Amino acid sequence: MKVITTVSQLKNELNGFREKGKSIGLVPTMGALHEGHASLVKRSVEENDVTVVSIFVNPTQFNDKNDLKNYPRNLEADCELLRAVGATIAFAPEVEEMYPEPDTRQFHFAPLDTVMEGACRPGHFNGVAQIVSKLFYAAEPDKAYFGEKDFQQLAIIREMVRRLGLSLQIIGCPIVRESDGLALSSRNMLLTAEERTRALAISRTLFESLNVAKNSSLHDTRAFVEKQINKVDGFRLEYYRIVDGNTLQEVEEWSDSDYIVGCIALFCGNIRLIDNIKYKEVK
Ligand code: PAF
Repeated sequence: MKVITTVSQLKNELNGFREKGKSIGLVPTMGALHEGHASLVKRSVEENDVTVVSIFVNPTQFNDKNDLKNYPRNLEADCELLRAVGATIAFAPEVEEMYPEPDTRQFHFAPLDTVMEGACRPGHFNGVAQIVSKLFYAAEPDKAYFGEKDFQQLAIIREMVRRLGLSLQIIGCPIVRESDGLALSSRNMLLTAEERTRALAISRTLFESLNVAKNSSLHDTRAFVEKQINKVDGFRLEYYRIVDGNTLQEVEEWSDSDYIVGCIALFCGNIRLIDNIKYKEVK
């Protein structure tokens, strides 16, 4: 596996592959890689000749300076994991390489980005769109892979690709969970042992709510989740929204859509965690 740090070197390397007719898969990440990322990389390795994994903690998507400062970073361990799963290139640029000058582009994806994460983290999706579009222009992949844990991000990236008229395919991959249910996240490593145990209430509640939903209204199901989460000491619920999986707008009745997802964000101590669960999905 090659570790590349500049856009020009990345383009050169990938042009070489492209000239030979090789397909390119891109997995954008912020590093601190775990099995969730590994599942995206494995899928890309299966579906493409070449897999590029970007490792870049993107400052423009952090609305909280401390969150940016404390975000876990470990390039060596990341490269080890990427070698093991068969990535071709790790692209790990410095901030100055991706932002030689401030990115003044403003992306608006209303109403997709005005709810949930967009409402709680002003500017977050603008920053995500800035960096992901730069990565798409740099790598020109045939396919790019994103996890469904960041459900709203995935919807916004699909919309960005549509609006920019890019021809790559966006592949959404299922959430990977620990055996006890906790959704894998780079932020999990910032949890204390006690918080880690407490955090299990998130997935447990979401899974229980699938059963509740079978015999309850959407309103009562949402109330069930909020009540269970608010009972946990050390949790601060930011939101629980039950939304249409395409428009991300709240639905009132189970019959309102064929694709219904519950999305949660909360603080467990000082660590912000998100998760989601599908109540309805017509494939
Ligand atoms: O999901 C992430 O890790 C980031 O938001 C992404 C897509 C790599 C952009 O920085």
